[in-house]
Amino acid sequence: MTIDKSLFIRALRKEKLSTPPIWYMRQAGRYLPEYRKIRSKFKNFLDMCKDPDVCCELALQPMNRFNLDASILFSDILTIPDAFNLGVEFKEGEGPVFNNPIKNKAIIRDLPRFNPQDLSYVYKCVENLRASLPPSIPLIGFCGSPWTLAAYSIEGSSSKDFGFTKKFISENTEEVHELLDAYTNACFLYLKEQAMSGINAIQIFDSWANLLNESDYKIYSLNYINDLVRKLKMDKITSNLPIIVFARQPAGGISQFSHVSLDCLSLYWDESIDKSINILKNNTAIQGNLDPKILKEDNSVILKEVKMIIDKFKDYPGYIFNLGHGITPDIDPDKIKFVTDTVREI
Ligand code: CP3
Repeated sequence: MTIDKSLFIRALRKEKLSTPPIWYMRQAGRYLPEYRKIRSKFKNFLDMCKDPDVCCELALQPMNRFNLDASILFSDILTIPDAFNLGVEFKEGEGPVFNNPIKNKAIIRDLPRFNPQDLSYVYKCVENLRASLPPSIPLIGFCGSPWTLAAYSIEGSSSKDFGFTKKFISENTEEVHELLDAYTNACFLYLKEQAMSGINAIQIFDSWANLLNESDYKIYSLNYINDLVRKLKMDKITSNLPIIVFARQPAGGISQFSHVSLDCLSLYWDESIDKSINILKNNTAIQGNLDPKILKEDNSVILKEVKMIIDKFKDYPGYIFNLGHGITPDIDPDKIKFVTDTVREI
């Protein structure tokens, strides 16, 4: 079988399938003992991301265990801010910390020009992975949305409400737009290199979509996602790659995406399936959206939830089974096997 005939690519082409393709956000990660074993050899998570052989092995771990329908590159969205010399580090139990965050507008004016070759370790991992995966299994490349990357870069770390970032964007609007433009261009060049190295689809993560009100969401995030999608659809190297967007609770709702020429929307776990089907009206494939917390329940509860989701999508052309956000470190890998088997048996 070729990639083109794979369930995943067929779903992205909006074909109605009797069994949906399955993959999971954060399918490689700390919930897997084989991941933790390799992770323990590295102090800084980003050092591990810079080793293409290790990243290839990490991406293959969930494929070997669960035989999933798509593989995702092992890396992180924060490789781009790191390439802008913001000094990204992952501290134990703290999440990402920036040694040189964007704390004033002068830093934006002085940002270095993005050199896509600074991230050649990512493209090497794509090459290794593409060569190691069965020819029928699609490989997903990814990046963060310009807004999500900017929010981390300005705040300098994860935060509950990103208060500094919100104040910063209202006081330095012009420079923030310069930053968003630079990140949009960097994301495009980064994905283009991933495409040349062998990815078969793209996912853009707007994980901090929820920070902005409806009008600011359009101004600071949606416009730049649109711009990135437009650039990708216009370039002959990337124009054939289906694009998935994951946006967490965007104010103004998901109807804003029905006007964007993306191929698939990945629903956050609290998004109503009935409403989403109605809004996207068979024009956009849908991915999602089992609540990752359900994976901590008994199998009988999981079975009920999975059945409910599969049933709602049974007539929808272009459905991909996934979670509504990433797998958390506290999940038993057997639950992932149970969900995968259940989706394929229903
Ligand atoms: O299987 C996969 O999905 C592979 C790769 C992947 C990682 N991060 C590996 C990772 C992907 C696609 C990401 C995307 C990512 N990174 C997002 C978007 C998705 C989302 O969850 O909303 C975001 C916001 C980040 C930024 C990030 N990376 C944070 C906030 C953290 C720390 C907190 C956390 O969840 O662990 C990371 C670290 C990270 N990225 C880990 C992994 C496996 C854990 C690091 C470790 O082992 O110490």
